[in-house]
Amino acid sequence: MICLGIESTAHTFGVGIVRDKGKVLANERDVYKPKSGWGIIPIDAAAHHNKVSREIVKKAMDSAKVKAKDIDIVAYSRGPGLPPCLYAGMNFAKELANEFVVPLVPVNHCVAHIEIGRVTTGLDNPVVVYVSGANTQIISFAEGCYRVFGETMDVGIGNALDKFGRSVGLDFPQAPKIEELARKGKWVELPYVVKGMDLSFSGILTESLKKHKLGEPLENVCYSIQEVFFSMLTEVTERALAHLGKDQVLLTGGVAANKRLQEMLNTMCMERKGKFSVVPREYSGDNGAMIAWNGIIAYKSGQKIKPERASVDSVWRTDMVKIGWI
Ligand code: ATP
Ligand code: FE2
Repeated sequence: MICLGIESTAHTFGVGIVRDKGKVLANERDVYKPKSGWGIIPIDAAAHHNKVSREIVKKAMDSAKVKAKDIDIVAYSRGPGLPPCLYAGMNFAKELANEFVVPLVPVNHCVAHIEIGRVTTGLDNPVVVYVSGANTQIISFAEGCYRVFGETMDVGIGNALDKFGRSVGLDFPQAPKIEELARKGKWVELPYVVKGMDLSFSGILTESLKKHKLGEPLENVCYSIQEVFFSMLTEVTERALAHLGKDQVLLTGGVAANKRLQEMLNTMCMERKGKFSVVPREYSGDNGAMIAWNGIIAYKSGQKIKPERASVDSVWRTDMVKIGWI
C-alpha cells in the first residue's frame, strides 16, 4: 500500500510518499518565509501553500518514481494548526483523492510526529518529548490514547529561545546560535520553573534578558538559559517515565537538534538503564512523510472520510485522537 500525505499546518507545505512498514519513498517540502522582521501571516502562508502544492506533489512523485495509479490513499493534516493553512491542505488533498479515485484519511499533526518517530527509531512504547517552535509537550500512550503528561504553560521552548536570541541581536533561527555561544559560557543564576508536570519559560526569558542588560556576557546567559530549560524538561520527562513505568524516551521537533538537550536526556535514560533516541532531522520537523505514514496505519485501522465530509480542526487535541492502531 502506498500513501501520499500532505502537511500544511503552518510554515511547511510538505508531501510525503510512504509504503507499508514505514518505507519512505519521497519527502519533499517548500517552506513559507515571512518577510523579514515579521512572524507568520496565516493568509500569506496559505497562499504560499496553494501556489507550490502541484509542483511539490510532482517533485515527490518523480523522486518516489510512482504514478497516479500507484497511490492507494491520500492523507492530510487535519489539525492542530493555522486555519487558512489547514484549509489549503485539506482542499488540495480532497482534489487529489478525487483525481486518483482513492480514499481520504485525516491525520492529527502531533500524533503524526510521534508515529514517524516510532517507526524511524524502533522505540515502540516511548515517552515522547516534542519540542518545536510552538510546542513543548511530554506525551505518552496510556489507556487507549496519547496523553499529554506535561506541557508549557506559556510559550513553546523554541520560540522562547528564538525570542531571547532576537532580543540580543542574533539572526533567525536564533536557537542554533545560542547553542553555539553556550559552549563557551559559564553558569549564572536563573530561576527554574516546574509546576507539577508543567513548565514555564517566559519568566526565565525575562530574567535572562535582564542579566544580559546588566552586563553578564552573552555566552554565560546562553549557557544558563539552555541549562535551566533543558533540566526542566529532563526532570518532567523522568517523572513521566517513573509514573508510567516506561523505559524509552523519544525526542522530536525542531529543538531536538540541540546536542546539549540530547546529552541531558540521554544521561538520564542511561542512569535508568533505559533507551533514548532522537528522530532523524529529516522527520523531526514538520514534513509530509509523517502524515503519509500515519495515514497508512490509520487507514488500516479503519479510518477514512468521504471527501465531501472532510474537515479541519485548528485546536485538535492530542488526547482526543482516536488511536485504532495500537
Ligand atoms: P511546530 O508547528 O510543530 O511547532 P515549528 O514550525 O516550530 O513546528 P520546527 O522545525 O519543528 O518548526 O522547530 C523549529 C524550532 O526549532 C525553532 O524555534 C528553532 O529555533 C528551533 N531549533 C532549531 N535548531 C535548534 C537547536 N540547535 N537548538 C535549539 N533549538 C533549535
Ligand atoms: Fe510540528
